[in-house]
Amino acid sequence: MKILSLLLCFSSVQGGTVYFGVYSDADCKIPMVDGHTVANMTLATNQCSCMSYDDGSGYIQSNCNYDPVCQDDGLYLSWTQRVSVTDMDNGCTDEGGGKIIEAQLHSECTAVMTHMGTTYQKLLSAYDPTEVCSSVSPLSSPPSQYIVDQMSQEEKYSLVNGIGWKTKIQQDGYYIGNIPGIPRLSVPSIKMQDAAQGFRTTDLRQVGQVTSWPCSLGVSAAWDVDLMESWGTALGAEHRSKGANVILGPSINVHRIAKGGRNAEYISGESPALGSMLTPAYVRGVQGAGVMAVAKHFALNNQETFRNEVNSVADERTMMEVYYPPFLAAVQSGVASFKGAYNLVNGTHACGNDELLRRDLKGRMGFEGFVMSDWWAVHDVDYPNAGLDMDMPGDDGNFGDANLERLDPAVVDDMVARIVGGMMGVGLMAEEEGGNVKFPSLCEIPDGCDDLYFNETATSDEHVALARKIGAEGAVLLKNDGGVLPLDDGIKKIAVVGSACDPPNDIERMLKIWNVGNYFVMGGSGRVIPASPISVLGGIKEASAERGIEIVESISDSVEDGVEAMDDADVVILCGATTSTEGTDRENLYLDQDDFLKEILAQTGEIPTVVVTITPGATVLSNFADSADGILNVFLAGEETGHAVADILFGSVNPSGKLPVTFLLSEDDAVEPCNFLELRECVYEEGVLVGYRRLQDKDVGFAFGHGLSYTNFEYEWGEGGGIKRDGGEIKITNSGEMAGKEVVQVYFDSGEGYELKSFVKTALLQAGESVIIPFKFEDRDWSVWDSFVSDFVVKGGEWKVGVGGGSRDIRLVSSVEL
Ligand code: BGC
Repeated sequence: MKILSLLLCFSSVQGGTVYFGVYSDADCKIPMVDGHTVANMTLATNQCSCMSYDDGSGYIQSNCNYDPVCQDDGLYLSWTQRVSVTDMDNGCTDEGGGKIIEAQLHSECTAVMTHMGTTYQKLLSAYDPTEVCSSVSPLSSPPSQYIVDQMSQEEKYSLVNGIGWKTKIQQDGYYIGNIPGIPRLSVPSIKMQDAAQGFRTTDLRQVGQVTSWPCSLGVSAAWDVDLMESWGTALGAEHRSKGANVILGPSINVHRIAKGGRNAEYISGESPALGSMLTPAYVRGVQGAGVMAVAKHFALNNQETFRNEVNSVADERTMMEVYYPPFLAAVQSGVASFKGAYNLVNGTHACGNDELLRRDLKGRMGFEGFVMSDWWAVHDVDYPNAGLDMDMPGDDGNFGDANLERLDPAVVDDMVARIVGGMMGVGLMAEEEGGNVKFPSLCEIPDGCDDLYFNETATSDEHVALARKIGAEGAVLLKNDGGVLPLDDGIKKIAVVGSACDPPNDIERMLKIWNVGNYFVMGGSGRVIPASPISVLGGIKEASAERGIEIVESISDSVEDGVEAMDDADVVILCGATTSTEGTDRENLYLDQDDFLKEILAQTGEIPTVVVTITPGATVLSNFADSADGILNVFLAGEETGHAVADILFGSVNPSGKLPVTFLLSEDDAVEPCNFLELRECVYEEGVLVGYRRLQDKDVGFAFGHGLSYTNFEYEWGEGGGIKRDGGEIKITNSGEMAGKEVVQVYFDSGEGYELKSFVKTALLQAGESVIIPFKFEDRDWSVWDSFVSDFVVKGGEWKVGVGGGSRDIRLVSSVEL
């Protein structure tokens, strides 16, 4: 029989005592606690989990109405509970509306609470949060500490330093980042792979084995928390299939620079609120699939120009209100790891920045996971003392044995415990004998992983269908004059014009040059090369064939040929696109075919025109936008681009995407990347007024949050007649003729202009259908950062609240006096 393990912690609760208990003997006998038998639960062997309480009535109540999962892996217990508490410092973290407490314990069972029953919620909300947290948090260190205590110094050192790049990574069997495991302690090897559009492809064999998803910004453009989680789940599954247990994402920096070369991979767009609501969903999805997520790049990594040298200088309020929130949301969702940025922050490189890592991330935000460096971003041996836990890819020598020996051993132990804790948190630790784990390690580097890395097919029909769905949900209908879209049934002939409608996908070139992008994928570490992506032309052809529509095409940027092709067509679909990559910022904000589009649109006469734009972020369309009847934008949309676009054009999907960035009227309206040779300071002069907030008094091309539908939505206040301090209800009615979804956005203005606070995407509403959307707000939502007291403080006075379908489409206004 296995060793008995009994874990209990007590906390007083109104009216009695609460017992958190996890019992795991072979018979699951229920022990006596405090004179009471704890609960009358039926616990099958190896189904060891329970929670009971004395409600003061003299009877012990049991509410084990969740799904206990006993892994019997003999090594640890991961125990997650959703409760309504707010005490982050004591190990409680927030997830969406609820809160989470995590405790990992050395035990034989894994009990995962996955279901919230009514009784359970009611019971937990009665707790005193501090007591619940303090009763749980002491239990969160023993498991990883237990492992660390058994490690030799050599083993500890090997866990904090990657294996290097030059000699290793170019060999088969290695990932983008690698750390060997410690088999005798059941610590699996760490295998990291990028991320921004799926499992990064570095070799021809992998092309087609993994899904080339829409870029992360394209997923955000759907403004759909559930869809983000589904994507996370699928990403996690593909990484696991390929043998990786770390995904180098999500990328969550708020966009400061419209030309940012990596904006396509930053899911926050211009809004900390958007990033904070989407990030936890990504983390939940990925980590639920047994892969550690990595929130990056912390922090103020807002431009690629001079990315290793630029010193981002921002005041505390700007950091706390704009750039930190998505990272805080990542911490609160239990993300395993953070990745430090290349740049300096207020004078010190991010990966060795004590204020950033120790004070803010691990201190104020309460991050208990590990921080890895960006690749070759460690410049000093002392970075561990500033809060860096892992040097990647590990060949710079800074975390070499001799340097680690100079550190206080307690610092090294903490680094190692955080890494081991991260693995435990997602269920990766194997048991000493037998390897019975929630997520067994699929392979060990290098030899064991070769086959998975190069030969395993991780994509599937379901994933490709999801990529198409995300592409369509993230497509933003910018303009639709005269209802040119959806293409109506009477259409007999469509002209498809422009090289971007069927662009090349030069696999050979991309494999040679790591940061070449195209109109399907961005360049750089986030690139997933598609094998045979569906172009806009391909998608339109398929849909037209099903409908008996004739297609004439002119796949060049010759105005003459284009005009000839559109002769007697019922509608012309034009395409324009641009791409972006890591390492450099965009040269300009125009589409590569800007001149062509302007010229040809001047010659389309009476023929209705629709321009499909494919972009990596904010773009200037103003040279031709007025002349087009319709404009549909997708952010670099991966292998299913053409299907997703056709789904919208032909109306099989009603568009519901919204812009996560501002499409400007002029390039001059954008903040330029700091570009200098000597003075490396990049001062964030606009402060908290980032993105759309900075442009609130200017005309823009298409505003943040904008996106049209084929139907109309009416907005009314629900019960209570407005948004109050603690929230309110909005009634949305689909008043048009087609089923559709609306993204209901709530903006607050305390005197500095509207700022997005929250949003909800409705379910598909049938014509005439209404829904009531409740919004809840807390004091934090009505607060600004006060540097004097170093905290968020509720701002008194009048707050304006605007609710609508975009930052410049406010339909309801109310005010709150604080
Ligand atoms: C990027 C990271 C990436 C790493 C490994 C770096 O250049 O900044 O985002 O994860 O390379 O590929």
